[in-house]
Amino acid sequence: MNYSIIGFGTVGKALARAFARKGISTAVATTRSPEALAAAARSIGPTIVPKSLKDALAADVILLAVPFWAHRDVAQALPSWRGKVVIDATNAYGVPLVDLGNLPSSKVIANALNGARLVKAFNHLPAAVLAQDPDVGAGRRVIFLSSDDEGAVATVASLIEKLGYAPVSLGKIAEGGLLVQARDKSWAPLIFQDLFQPEQ
Ligand SMILES: NC(=O)c1ccc[n+]([C@@H]2O[C@H](COP(=O)([O-])OP(=O)(O)OC[C@H]3O[C@@H](n4cnc5c(N)ncnc54)[C@H](OP(=O)(O)O)[C@@H]3O)[C@@H](O)[C@H]2O)c1
Repeated sequence: MNYSIIGFGTVGKALARAFARKGISTAVATTRSPEALAAAARSIGPTIVPKSLKDALAADVILLAVPFWAHRDVAQALPSWRGKVVIDATNAYGVPLVDLGNLPSSKVIANALNGARLVKAFNHLPAAVLAQDPDVGAGRRVIFLSSDDEGAVATVASLIEKLGYAPVSLGKIAEGGLLVQARDKSWAPLIFQDLFQPEQ
């Protein structure tokens, strides 16, 4: 299984730190050249590898950490999304519902990345919290996930475990997943909830 993070701003870097902490390789990419990302990637760790957007999109599992509407450009950068596991870490906060056809924003992204196996995750915490070690001794920081694809949930839950967090599945995007979907100018109830699962 190989990974890439698309978007290397505050969230992309926080996610890269989580990969680096565990020595797991991941590509990182933006609209800029790999050379432009090299110094920032090096400062996070040797397993963080800048790539072109096209090369990064060859990964099996793609973490999307771009501004919400940028997903449309990312969608165009790959001829087929069939079979790709995409982790949607975006928030469509402030986007009028009418612009989303009144759908949860993750459904809009899933429709644009036609054929992708989309899982919403890593969007509910501020980047500064996400960047911290998820192991606080007495427990592990919770990451919520929601998806309409159970197989993709298993893949992403396993990644979340490998990164040291505790995965908590909320079910389908338009059901339990609504608890983490920002809607227009309101934050869903589980957004910003920094929870820990005690060690068993
Ligand atoms: N900030 C938070 O605490 C937080 C927490 C949870 C979720 N989120 C969500 O996470 C997403 C990213 O937020 P952020 O704060 O990390 O934003 P940010 O700091 O502005 O970073 C956005 C990144 O996306 C890249 N990007 C923009 N358009 C792109 C495209 N078409 N293709 C590839 N890369 C592109 C940008 O690089 P270039 O422009 O150089 O290409 C930049 O690296 C947003 O949807 C936000 O709502 C944010």
